[in-house]
Amino acid sequence: MTDKKARVGIIGAGTVARRNQIPAFQVCDRAETVAVFDRHIERAQALCDQFGIPKAYGRLEDLLADDEINCVSICTGNVSHESIALAALEAGKHVLCEKPMAISVEQAERMKRAAEERGLVFMMAFVNRFRQESILINELREQGRFGEIYHARCGWIRRRGTPSGWFTSRAKSGGGAVLDIGVHVIDMTWYLMGRPKPVSVSGVTHRRIGSYRTRSVAGWSAVGAQDGEFDNEEAASALIRFENGASLSVDISWSINGKEEGMFAKLYGEKAGASVIPAVIYGEEDGFLTDVEPVIVAESGWQNAFEREIVHFADCVVSGCAPISGAEDGLTVQRMLNGIYDSAEQGREILL
Ligand SMILES: NC(=O)c1ccc[n+]([C@@H]2O[C@H](COP(=O)([O-])OP(=O)(O)OC[C@H]3O[C@@H](n4cnc5c(N)ncnc54)[C@H](O)[C@@H]3O)[C@@H](O)[C@H]2O)c1
Repeated sequence: MTDKKARVGIIGAGTVARRNQIPAFQVCDRAETVAVFDRHIERAQALCDQFGIPKAYGRLEDLLADDEINCVSICTGNVSHESIALAALEAGKHVLCEKPMAISVEQAERMKRAAEERGLVFMMAFVNRFRQESILINELREQGRFGEIYHARCGWIRRRGTPSGWFTSRAKSGGGAVLDIGVHVIDMTWYLMGRPKPVSVSGVTHRRIGSYRTRSVAGWSAVGAQDGEFDNEEAASALIRFENGASLSVDISWSINGKEEGMFAKLYGEKAGASVIPAVIYGEEDGFLTDVEPVIVAESGWQNAFEREIVHFADCVVSGCAPISGAEDGLTVQRMLNGIYDSAEQGREILL
């Protein structure tokens, strides 16, 4: 039987499920949100009530035994992605997994292997690939507009933007700013570079500011967050080298005493370069330098990127086609992320 719709069970009834994933599933014609599971069943029930979703589950086994569900979206904290993905794949469900894929390379390898063995769709929710700017820059790269991209810089600099709740605890999250926001910009920039094979990483991590009581600042908050342990890094820098000779420099901070810079990605190619957010193409024409700023009027917001991500996932579930952000890419990104931690710990460049 071919599935006509992605009939999804949402796993984890927290902030990203409520704010981004469920609203995106609900506007997708090819998807239907059948159930929500959370170990706090009242959270699952609250989202079912809010969005008119029929079934709330308090046990993973019950959701996975539900034959109406053909796919799941894993929206729990990072440390549970692996165990939930393996159980879902074992139960024959296609998987969409929130970022980061896992908290270690070994976990990501097991997830990739399981998805391949079962022949099911495994897609990483790398939402920034689905921004209009990324889609445009990727098309231009494929058309050869930039020539070979030999260097890139990316980062996400928040002056005071540390998320609250489990994010700051190493045991509960697996890692700090690198796994939380580094993953977004590293994945997006690496994807737009054409996914060269990473061969080495030199990274440093810092924790100097920690918790703060700065007035008038607000950030992402895990559901039910309270002040917790803070033993994760809040900032990191890295240089990643690739097999084709290209390089990527990365700067990340949840908090730093410098100018807020938001998320950025810059590509440097032999023929032209680009800034991704907002999209600007830096070239040369008729002997003059040119800055081309494509006007992206419609559907350029973050939530629109979530909606495109969900449409793509539903398409993959329905048609069986391979996602643009599959397990292989999740694993490669995991190698770069954990490479930053390993290099920082060892105080030297490490080979991947
Ligand atoms: N794509 C994005 O831009 C984006 C943004 C924020 C968060 N995220 C990712 O989404 C995930 C969730 O983040 P959040 O901010 O929504 O967290 P959250 O703490 O608000 O929500 C997680 C929910 O999962 C439940 N949960 C945790 N472990 C569970 C388990 N083993 N079994 C059942 N339920 C469990 C918790 O009770 C909670 O309700 C994280 O991996 C995070 O990195 C992605």
